[in-house]
Amino acid sequence: MASASPQASPDANLQETRSSRPITVPDFLSARSRGVRLTMLTAYDYTMARLLDEAGVDSILVGDSLGMVVQGNANSLSVTLDEMIYHTKCVARGVRRALVIADLPFMTYQVGPQQALESAGRLIKEAQAQAVKMEGGERAAELVAAVTKADIPVMGHIGLTPQSIHRLGGFRVQRDEDRLVRDALAIEQAGAFAIVIECVPADLATRITSLVKIPTIGIGAGVGCDGQVLVVQDMLGMYHDLHPKFVKQYADVGTVVRRAVATYCQEVKKSQFPTDETSFH
Ligand code: KIV
Repeated sequence: MASASPQASPDANLQETRSSRPITVPDFLSARSRGVRLTMLTAYDYTMARLLDEAGVDSILVGDSLGMVVQGNANSLSVTLDEMIYHTKCVARGVRRALVIADLPFMTYQVGPQQALESAGRLIKEAQAQAVKMEGGERAAELVAAVTKADIPVMGHIGLTPQSIHRLGGFRVQRDEDRLVRDALAIEQAGAFAIVIECVPADLATRITSLVKIPTIGIGAGVGCDGQVLVVQDMLGMYHDLHPKFVKQYADVGTVVRRAVATYCQEVKKSQFPTDETSFH
């Protein structure tokens, strides 16, 4: 894995990335001791996965956030395992280097260890994911243990867990320090190789990071985690239904798309496209 360099330009990162070997779960586990911060972004299709991989992201999460940003639902609860398998297959075909992690969607693991293992197994066998992500802390520890015992790497997810949206009463910052610390320790103890910490005050996420040995990946959790994840549509300015404070927009792809499509429509209406050069003779 390329080590962080404050001087490195994005283009240098691209060059270095194209020649480097695939990222593995052990690379994640050793990242902290090597002083390397981890990058993760979501993707749900081949084209985007390929672009993210070429740009050098360390891991791609096929998140059940696809229920919102791909399917247009208000939350992720209705996403099915078959849909996750379909999208993970598309992503895996576009990736050469990044670690591909797939979310276990709502009610495909909560029933018990057997269900968790069977669902995780399908994401690895059928969809070519290299690891799965599971939401929940202490309550999910037994499920995480069942899956990791079968040599399927599990990334935990604590704090704001979107599959618990109805219990939590909305997308809210989670501040219960004792519970969050217990959750992180339970997930680590169960064998997870990393933990996503979502929407937790920065100080608390830093404390949790210091208490566990596995890497923490923050989203709305400040700079003290070992890495960062964002939903790709949020950071590219393509999805505006929600405006979480923690999102930094790195590009305005939404505007680029709208302008390009408006120009295309105008040109077709005015017979300016297709042109002679784009026609067969
Ligand atoms: O589903 C998802 O995209 C996620 C990330 C936001 C962590 O769980």
